[in-house]
Amino acid sequence: METIRLDKCLAMNFGCSRREAGILIRKGRVTVNGNFVRDAALKVSPDDAVCCDDSDLQVVTKASPRYFMLNKPVGCVSATDDSEYPTVMSCLRDEAGGLFPVGRLDLDTEGLIFITDDGAWAHRVTAPSRKCPKVYEAVLEQPLDPALKEIFAKGVLLRGEKTPTLPAELEILEPEKVRLTIHEGRYHQVKRMFASQGNHVVALRRIAIGGIFLPGDLAPGDYRPLTPEEIALF
Ligand code: URA
Repeated sequence: METIRLDKCLAMNFGCSRREAGILIRKGRVTVNGNFVRDAALKVSPDDAVCCDDSDLQVVTKASPRYFMLNKPVGCVSATDDSEYPTVMSCLRDEAGGLFPVGRLDLDTEGLIFITDDGAWAHRVTAPSRKCPKVYEAVLEQPLDPALKEIFAKGVLLRGEKTPTLPAELEILEPEKVRLTIHEGRYHQVKRMFASQGNHVVALRRIAIGGIFLPGDLAPGDYRPLTPEEIALF
């Protein structure tokens, strides 16, 4: 019978990271077949009764399709393979192959990116027709002109393009810090939108995709499985 590690079983049930699952296990909050266990690497199968704090957990061994959120760190590329830089896949070394990043973030952008092996789901996240909102926080070189709110709400023409950007919502957090929600994914879109207005993005972080927010406790380089509810949003 197929088995999985106990920490992975908890992570899949709770949508937490394996590290967090390991903490629960080591704290003695998990039983397997009625016995308290403290070994995160213990293999469990669907025949085992796994409980955490009196909740029964499901042991699902069929790995595919899989869905994760990763807090992409600066300095790695959103690809499965690269000759020059580490890829986002190096953050998911514990997971088997077949996974790929959904959409792209620049090398120097950090934040939320999904990783899956479900091509149809990935397409639903990225398809331009769905206009999935993506929220970014940007630090700018120069203080922001509040008139930009209206300019971005109307759409701006980016250099070399024929159609203006879709209406985007700009929230000014500090004179040089903003939150921008866009509904498409053009090449370097956020940086180019500010560049079109004579400003420059010095740091960029994606904090949400289609209603899923980057959790505050997911550090750059960390990942966790998406919950069934999160997966069903797309
Ligand atoms: N827009 C950008 O300019 N860069 C990103 O990484 C994502 C959106």
